[in-house]
Amino acid sequence: MQQLELIRALPKAELHVHIEGTFEPELMFAIAQRNQIEIPYKSIDEVKQAYNFHNLQSFLDIYYAGAQVLIHEQDFYDLAWAYFEKCALDRVVHTEMFFDPQTHTDRGVAFETVINGLTRACDDAKQQLNISSHLIMCFLRHLSEAAAFDTLAQALPYKDQIIAIGLDSSELGHPPEKFERVFAKAAEAGFLLVAHAGEEGPADYVWQALDLLKVNRIDHGVRSEEDPALLQRLKAEQMPLTVCPLSNLKLCVVDQMQQHNIQRLLQQGLCVTVNSDDPAYFGGYMNDNFIAITEALDLTDTALKQLAINSFNASFISTADKQKWIAEIESI
Ligand code: ADE
Ligand code: ZN
Repeated sequence: MQQLELIRALPKAELHVHIEGTFEPELMFAIAQRNQIEIPYKSIDEVKQAYNFHNLQSFLDIYYAGAQVLIHEQDFYDLAWAYFEKCALDRVVHTEMFFDPQTHTDRGVAFETVINGLTRACDDAKQQLNISSHLIMCFLRHLSEAAAFDTLAQALPYKDQIIAIGLDSSELGHPPEKFERVFAKAAEAGFLLVAHAGEEGPADYVWQALDLLKVNRIDHGVRSEEDPALLQRLKAEQMPLTVCPLSNLKLCVVDQMQQHNIQRLLQQGLCVTVNSDDPAYFGGYMNDNFIAITEALDLTDTALKQLAINSFNASFISTADKQKWIAEIESI
């Protein structure tokens, strides 16, 4: 089997995707028009030209601006449904999607509007596309601890629709320790926990996410490589890292894909996975990420299969479902 065929054939779980980051310009224009909201672009081409980032913040500014056109439940449904259609094309059979409620509630959109639209799309994806999913609610780390507590309180009535709590947005200057107390409260309420750490921030932020936030997975974590003791810990605990290669390239975390450390981390026995992060902004969905690293790093078939196996092991699905998908990967 050719490697492209293998990538397409492998069942995969996506564990690091921001639903607001799947907002394709075509859909953004359509929703802006129906909601009669002005956007600062005249054409799709002009939007794509603006997607030229030099670091995380330069991306976030544009990403938050794009999300402003989402107002109604149907908007959130359409956004998630368009992403599920991409999953179907890439054989992503399970996805755990982040959403950023504060991006919406801070402009007067009700929490309920967001969660109802997303949940309805998740239900339809299971029924119509046989794709399973979970929602992960993220706190925006550039906002205050108090705002995170308030967001957690708003999520409690929807506890059954949210599997985990995460932490995203501007990493530098907003260390995990800022959210230690609210993460403890989320754990008490029964949520699983994840956090972005070690994307632009130092290895110390990964230690904090592990020791203070007590996360079940690290999102990104690529800068862990700078600290051998941390790598040892991540390996010993098989703590998953949800790595996003095209994102790292577009946000200049790496200068070239050939320099990406995903293969080195995999070879050292860490539980690394491949993910798209914000695919509408970074130039590719799941399979595009697999193809980019395969071409740049000469990944073997065994490595590709291990990455797919890791994605299920690192997911929040049942042990029985993990075993089912891993058996299928091993039979390919
Ligand atoms: N929000 C959306 N994408 C993000 C990323 N790559 N890092 C931090 N916050 C984000
Ligand atoms: Zn992310």
